[in-house]
Amino acid sequence: MTARRILYCSSEAYPLIKTGGLGDVAGSLPRALQQLGHDVRLVLPAYRDLLHNLAQRPRQLGQWEVDGQLVNLWQTTLPASRVKTWLVDCPALFGRPGNPYHDTDGEPWPDNAQRFALFGKVAALLASDQLGLEWQPDIVHGNDWQCGLLPVYLNEFDSRPATVFTIHNLAYQGLFDRATFEQLGLPESLWHFTALEYHNQLSFIKGGLVYSDHLTTVSPTYAREIQTPAFGQGMEGLLAYRAADLSGILNGIDTRVWNPGTDRLIVKRYNRQHLADKGINKQALQAQFDLPQDNAVLLMGMVTRLAEQKGIDLILDSLPDLLRLPVQLVILGSGDKRYEQRLQEAVRQYPRQLAVTLGYDETLAHRIEAGADLFLMPSRFEPCGLNQLYSQRYGTLPLVTPVGGLADTVMDTRLDTSGQALQESEASGFVMSEVSRAALEESVERALELYAQQTLWRHVQRIAMGRDFSWQRSAGRYVQLYEQLLQQRMAVIT
Ligand code: ADP
Ligand code: GLC
Repeated sequence: MTARRILYCSSEAYPLIKTGGLGDVAGSLPRALQQLGHDVRLVLPAYRDLLHNLAQRPRQLGQWEVDGQLVNLWQTTLPASRVKTWLVDCPALFGRPGNPYHDTDGEPWPDNAQRFALFGKVAALLASDQLGLEWQPDIVHGNDWQCGLLPVYLNEFDSRPATVFTIHNLAYQGLFDRATFEQLGLPESLWHFTALEYHNQLSFIKGGLVYSDHLTTVSPTYAREIQTPAFGQGMEGLLAYRAADLSGILNGIDTRVWNPGTDRLIVKRYNRQHLADKGINKQALQAQFDLPQDNAVLLMGMVTRLAEQKGIDLILDSLPDLLRLPVQLVILGSGDKRYEQRLQEAVRQYPRQLAVTLGYDETLAHRIEAGADLFLMPSRFEPCGLNQLYSQRYGTLPLVTPVGGLADTVMDTRLDTSGQALQESEASGFVMSEVSRAALEESVERALELYAQQTLWRHVQRIAMGRDFSWQRSAGRYVQLYEQLLQQRMAVIT
């Protein structure tokens, strides 16, 4: 195997800065690639909160003026790894507290286009070694719309590395008006529907989709779904056109962070052999949320961004029917104010069965994974989804819709098969037959039937906990892809 140089660019990476699954992926895939023997650099914007999170002062690699902005480049190490991490520090654009993408009211920062154009530009300069660091990658890997202009800028250089662009969520496209396109000084030739223009707007994500050598998304099913109008968010035509260069590689999980046997954030650690200890986490969670501490009740959990994608409206609409059953539901979430309000109202109506914490809370997320019996993810679409993977590892059976990565990673449990057949199957959760209230309610009832047969429930928990979702396999797939792209380039050159 040839060791390759890989520049991995992302707008977030756990534990330095995280708002969702992209943070988890960018915080663990680079390390997995490094462990396979490659030389990886992670590039991130130096948000103020990120700089405050650093345990040690980073090393300055240089200072430049880029597009009229003063940019410092810092080098640090991704915590608990040896991955060199480059921080693009432009105080005027990134030196503000709070969320990377929006203000405290949830409104996108008004200069997001300038912020992520500059990030893409600096990443392109690094990728082509224009800043004199004497490190030129073989592969540049960008993620989501925030990295969309990176391959566009990179294309301006004569020789450039091979480029991969990963779609984590097509619902976020980085759309801006024509005036912004002009302010960014992008060449007029790019204002075209085959380039960056999308219905008279500037689309950052199209930069990634049109100008990268290869596109990936985070599950095989989502890779197929986004070529159809139902899931393509308007990009289906372009994605179908690029089908030969589009593939799906499932996310892995960081098994050091998400491991019930070693997790320091949960009340009582446990493993497949000591599943009874999981019950202590259930009791503690019920107590923390002021719910009756009753083991006979099925405790359902949810940890989620409160966005339409996540099917939170299905849950809200189903509450009167669901809460007629012997179940409790705890939800940790933040996002859309409408959903936050509706959840608060529902808690007043069902105080003994429903509990909600609004906000972002890493510890509570782990405690829900450990304490719940069933984990709900009724997503309308789900590129991959990580919580259903964490839940399986924690023996918390996921109940999911048959879409995207959920369909690829959860095996349905059917009780109409005999107990014996179930014993021999690989069932690890519950897959709804479709995205609907009726299917949600039917699946919760199926879960209750299984919960009533504790031996079978335990069996399915053990299957789920034994499944391998570590990064090893997926990182190997990315390496194969990189090699394939580099071979293709050699073939063109020779
Ligand atoms: P998405 O990236 O679409 O939000 P994923 O399932 O891929 O969905 O990843 C979500 C990640 O963010 C998980 O690690 C999950 O635990 C975490 N998360 C989501 N909402 C919260 C929250 N309110 N508090 C803590 N962690 C959260
Ligand atoms: C996105 C998707 C989610 C995926 C995550 C990481 O935020 O919504 O399904 O798991 O990215 O790839």
